[in-house]
Amino acid sequence: MELVHTKEALKKAINRQKKAGKSIGFVPTMGALHQGHLSLVNEAGKQCGYVVVSIFVNPTQFNDTADLDNYPRDIDGDMALLENTSCELVFAPSANEMYPEKDTRVFDFGQLGEVMEGKHRPGHFNGVAQIVSKLFDAVQPDKAFFGLKDFQQLAIIQNMTAQLGYNIEIVPCNIVREPDGLAMSSRNKRLTTEQRENAALISKTLFEAQKKASDLSIDEIKKWVVSSIDANQHLETEYFDIVDNRTLQSITSWNETVNKTGCIAVYCGDVRLIDNVKF
Ligand code: PAF
Repeated sequence: MELVHTKEALKKAINRQKKAGKSIGFVPTMGALHQGHLSLVNEAGKQCGYVVVSIFVNPTQFNDTADLDNYPRDIDGDMALLENTSCELVFAPSANEMYPEKDTRVFDFGQLGEVMEGKHRPGHFNGVAQIVSKLFDAVQPDKAFFGLKDFQQLAIIQNMTAQLGYNIEIVPCNIVREPDGLAMSSRNKRLTTEQRENAALISKTLFEAQKKASDLSIDEIKKWVVSSIDANQHLETEYFDIVDNRTLQSITSWNETVNKTGCIAVYCGDVRLIDNVKF
């Protein structure tokens, strides 16, 4: 497995593979890798001839500087984890390599960007689109793999890919969960033992809500989820919404659309966790 830090070295390595007729699979990450990331790498390995993973904590997508400063970083641990996977090239650029100049592009995702994460983390998706488009330009993959835990991010990236006319297939991959149901996230590393135990209540409540959907209205389910989670002294819900998968807008009755997802953001201490389940 090769590690490169510059776009030039990345381009050389990728061109060699393209000349050899390999398809390029790309997994963008911010490092602090876990089994969720490795499942994306594994899927990329099944679908593509050559797998590239990027590791870059992108400053432009953090609307909170404390969150950026506290974001876990462990390049040696990440390299060790990737060693036994289908990843063949790691791209770990510096901030200056990705942003030699300030990126002033402003994306418009319409209603997709105005709700949930877009509403609570102003500028977040603009920063995600900035970095993902720069990474797409640098890697020029055939396919890029994204986890469904970041459900809204996936919709934003699909929209950005269409807007900018990239010929890249965006492959959504299932959420990977800990044995107690907590969705895997790099941020889980920041939880204390006590917080970690209590954080499992988030997914437990979502799974319970799925079962209750036949008996309760959307409004009742929403209230039940928020009050069940907030009753735990370690947890505080920022939002819980049930949305149409295509538009990401709230729905008000179960038969409004076939494909609907319940999306949640919860603070566990100062660690912000997100999750979602299908309804
Ligand atoms: O999902 C993430 O880890 C990040 O938002 C991404 C897509 C790597 C962009 O920085």
